Amino acid sequence: MRALGAETRVDETDLIAPLFVREGIAERIEISSLPGVYQDTRDSLRREVVSLAEMGVRAIMLFGVPADKDPEGSGAFDPEGIVQVALADLRAEVGDDVVLIADLCVDEYTSHGHCGIVRDDGTVDNDATLELYARAAVAQARAGAHMVAPSGMMDGQVGVIRAALDGAGYAETPILAYSAKYASGLYGPFRDAVDVSIVGGGDRKAYQQDPRNAREAIVETLADLAQGADMVMVKPAVAYLDIVSEIRRQVDVPLAAYHVSGEYSMLKAAAANGWIDHDVVADELLTSIKRAGADLILTYLTRWFAERAAGRSLDT
Ligand code: PBG
Repeated sequence: MRALGAETRVDETDLIAPLFVREGIAERIEISSLPGVYQDTRDSLRREVVSLAEMGVRAIMLFGVPADKDPEGSGAFDPEGIVQVALADLRAEVGDDVVLIADLCVDEYTSHGHCGIVRDDGTVDNDATLELYARAAVAQARAGAHMVAPSGMMDGQVGVIRAALDGAGYAETPILAYSAKYASGLYGPFRDAVDVSIVGGGDRKAYQQDPRNAREAIVETLADLAQGADMVMVKPAVAYLDIVSEIRRQVDVPLAAYHVSGEYSMLKAAAANGWIDHDVVADELLTSIKRAGADLILTYLTRWFAERAAGRSLDT
């Protein structure tokens, strides 16, 4: 009876698995601050995506960890860069059965750890950075990404990427914009996952949003849509459900929310200590994100969720 009246349902097809591929390792490595999440090799990544697909997961978001970093983050647009070669592998393996979304930023590839070109005074040059993003978008589409997801929060990035994709013959490659992305402490474990530390103990407050601001998220989201975003995202998720809910009211495109690394780690750590029940809380968190209005959830819980769902369907 309770299920009959339930207003919200989470399905594995709502979930997008963030995955990491690392150059130059022989075996996949578990990320210590993200238990159950790995830096994959090209081969182990292929196996992971096939296995997720078999359990009904429809999409993944790919991040690359290059062996070498430089000030421009050239691994983000080098056709031989780790993410590009891994995208090509995956496209050959799964075709169109899984939507391959490429995170589009340069911070995993820059020696200083910022999401763009850094000027001599240490600040990030917004407009010079846009050109790198345009190159990365085309490289990712060419390698086989079905969709690109700009996460750097530079002003004007969606418009520049749209124009670059259109100009290179990828007019049909959509953009999932990280539209309302906050300067959050909850990204800590992710930075272990991609081996990023921002030079001089810096932060991203100059380009990511201030957690104190809600109206600004609407401005950012509407700007991305005006520039051609096809789907939009709020990030982090659970600490920003008011933003998810407000954006849901204002836009009609698919809305994603990113349940980020720190949100996942807090759950895992508390559960490992026996302080909370992992499965009950994981379901509650994912349900809450959907209840607030997200259509899609990027979450490191995807494998756990899909395994359980697959086990259930085998039982029945
Ligand atoms: C930037 C990017 C970040 C995350 C996704 N894309 C890190 C940042 O902005 O510092 C964080 C994801 C997470 O914490 O799970 N390329």
